[in-house]
Amino acid sequence: MRRAVCPGSFDPITNGHLDIISRASRLYDEVYVAVMINKSKKGLFEIDERIGLIREVTAEYGNVVVESFHGLLVDYCKERDIPAIVKGLRAVSDFDYELQMAQMNNGLSGVETLFVPTNPTYSFLSSSLVKEVATWGGDVSHLVPPAVLTALNERLHAH
Ligand code: PNS
Repeated sequence: MRRAVCPGSFDPITNGHLDIISRASRLYDEVYVAVMINKSKKGLFEIDERIGLIREVTAEYGNVVVESFHGLLVDYCKERDIPAIVKGLRAVSDFDYELQMAQMNNGLSGVETLFVPTNPTYSFLSSSLVKEVATWGGDVSHLVPPAVLTALNERLHAH
């Protein structure tokens, strides 16, 4: 069984994340989407809400498991016998930090990181920008799945 993990904050999941997860799901038997808990970063959505949205929008792939984890990504991988991390690279600006993390993770446990070039349609996309644009009433309907759009509208614009 070939396994990989797509880790992140997913606050919330965007079409950019989904592009990487769907491509990973075609390359591996089982893809784990790990919502990494960062206590110092208060998100717009609770961890359980993020998980619910990711489960909803990845259900059609059939081989995606969604979980949260509090701790080091390498420990998550060790516990589940996952040898590979799959990450999207949007632009050169992502590369520095992603390379550092990949080398650190490999040094800590031997886990490999595989980079997938993001679909250029989403190369500017991030959860932070989606939240900012949506907060001020901008249209993000082409950047997130419909379930996420509904959740954003409820969270940001419900009275
Ligand atoms: O979506 P993000 O916030 O860019 O994802 C970053 C994430 C969660 C993948 C990264 O911060 C991470 O792996 N965190 C878990 C803690 C850890 O293992 N830190 C050491 C990384 S070398």
